[in-house]
Amino acid sequence: DMALVEKGENVFKKCAACHQVGDGATNRVGPHLNGIVGQQMGAVDGFRYSKTLEGMGADGMVWNAETLAEFLADPRGYVKGTKMSFNGLRSDDDIAAVVEYLKSYSQ
Ligand code: HEM
Repeated sequence: DMALVEKGENVFKKCAACHQVGDGATNRVGPHLNGIVGQQMGAVDGFRYSKTLEGMGADGMVWNAETLAEFLADPRGYVKGTKMSFNGLRSDDDIAAVVEYLKSYSQ
């Protein structure tokens, strides 16, 4: 859904202070997010994660529409002790849009 992807690109401005996605994306304050949908949590090469997120990944947890929605609604509630200093997104529509945007850079 292109309209949703475009809305998500706009929502991603809130993330772009810390994250890059797309051609030439690199780790900054946060890991780059290329390929994040469908990927194990805490697994981007060269990024130093919180112990919690690293552990969730080691337990086999994966980012998908559901886990991303839970995390983005309440980052500190979903990953206790996360290094992501972001209060989260209030709107379910914004969350759905940004997940669709990230999907467009995955697989
Ligand atoms: C981690 C998405 C905003 C800093 C992550 C992860 C995702 C994500 C999916 C997990 C990456 C992985 O497991 O490899 C987003 C989205 C945002 C956003 C969609 C906007 C809606 C921010 C902001 C900051 C930030 C504004 C900085 C102030 C970080 C950091 C981590 C992280 C430091 C690592 C967390 C940890 O190790 O516990 N983010 N993020 N993010 N993000 Fe964000």
